[in-house]
Amino acid sequence: MRISVIGCGYLGAVHASAMAELGHEVVGIDVDEAKITALSEGRTPFFEPGLPEVLTSAMASGRLRFSTNIADAAGAEVHFVAVGTPQKKGSHAADLTYVNAAVEALLPHLNVGDLIVGKSTVPVGTAARLAAVIEASGSGATLAWNPEFLREGFAVQDTIAPDRLVYGVPEGLAGDRAVAQLNEVYASAIDTQTPLVVTDYATAELVKVAANAFLATKISFINAMAEIAEVSGADVTQLADAIGYDTRIGRRFLNAGVGFGGGCLPKDIRAFTARAEELGRGESVAFLKEVDAINLRRRQRVVDLTVSALGRPVYNAKVAVLGLSFKPHSDDVRDSPALDVAVQLRGLGADVVATDPQAIENSRSRHPQITYSTNIEETLRGADAVVLVTEWPEFKSIDPSWAAELVTTRTIVDGRNTLDAAAWRAAGWTYYGLGRP
Ligand code: UGA
Repeated sequence: MRISVIGCGYLGAVHASAMAELGHEVVGIDVDEAKITALSEGRTPFFEPGLPEVLTSAMASGRLRFSTNIADAAGAEVHFVAVGTPQKKGSHAADLTYVNAAVEALLPHLNVGDLIVGKSTVPVGTAARLAAVIEASGSGATLAWNPEFLREGFAVQDTIAPDRLVYGVPEGLAGDRAVAQLNEVYASAIDTQTPLVVTDYATAELVKVAANAFLATKISFINAMAEIAEVSGADVTQLADAIGYDTRIGRRFLNAGVGFGGGCLPKDIRAFTARAEELGRGESVAFLKEVDAINLRRRQRVVDLTVSALGRPVYNAKVAVLGLSFKPHSDDVRDSPALDVAVQLRGLGADVVATDPQAIENSRSRHPQITYSTNIEETLRGADAVVLVTEWPEFKSIDPSWAAELVTTRTIVDGRNTLDAAAWRAAGWTYYGLGRP
């Protein structure tokens, strides 16, 4: 099938490459020339495990090309809209400028029977509005909403073998045809009995934000328990294990620590709150404001814990920060708790040296005031305190006895509760976790 993918960021570049890998003929389109040049040369403009391999093989097959010209979408039967919906400046709502612009730009290039498929995360009601725009254009195209559930770091496998598919389609024949077209796009997932929910636009849009809201709530729930554990002497990691054995609760996404970040969870819960308020139902998701507040408090907690653990004035104290990306296996620093902690400590006058296997460049361009090092040993040398804020395997496997010889003071704040506290203490470290003794 001929497919166009509008927007070649984290979502679109992976989607375009994966669709070509699955045998479709794909053109990826983006207004960012640098991004398109890189992708056309087989280079990924961001770090995503497995993507370089899929991109290279799809390019070699001749089924994948990239362009900055929206007219190159003409001739494709299915057009995926995978542009960003960032948080609006000065508001909690989603900025729909790019989604609106992508659909408008596509209109002159559509043929009767084409399917536009929204993948971007949007406030409920957006698809119905865009469907009316497409209808009014007289293009004869149909709109479907097909939210994406991929996780950065696992994006390629999540796209090729998703855990579920959701199609939001209109009623009637146009909807039936849209389902048939999407089933052809996702033939391999359909063949392997991937659960499929065919529904209306509003439900499809809401499924996505509800899923992210639930995940964010789960993380903030356990972080709230960490706050209580901190004042009661309990151990939140054992608590998570114990409640996680209940399969109704489950252990995944119950890791207490510095909290969630990234380009999705934080802005999605804020946009959901803003949309619910517009719809007159702000109270229904008012708890998400608390989820957000708990999450942001954990960053502050890591900063405060570090400052109090220093045992000397923070000004000019050398603090080694391990981690910058919002989670391991990603170079993404959007709303990253790790980078935020580094920036706050620097703001307090600490001499921060930070390292990360992939996210240094993205961090440096945003916050040049921090000293970055690509070397763990150099980062640790002479530190008055060490703060681990992203649980990269490289940091988890640091030998505490080796690290002990490098630092000035053996103080470690484990902002992800990921280290073996007993092993670090045995090597002479003062260990601080979050919500664990
Ligand atoms: C999230 C969702 O998990 C995906 O299903 C969704 O498709 C995606 O957003 C999106 O909307 O595009 P992602 O942003 O890649 O995916 O990251 P997650 O794996 O969800 O992690 C989010 C944050 O939560 C990270 O900062 C992570 O460190 C933190 N986290 C996760 C915790 O603090 N504790 C946990 O137990 C789990």
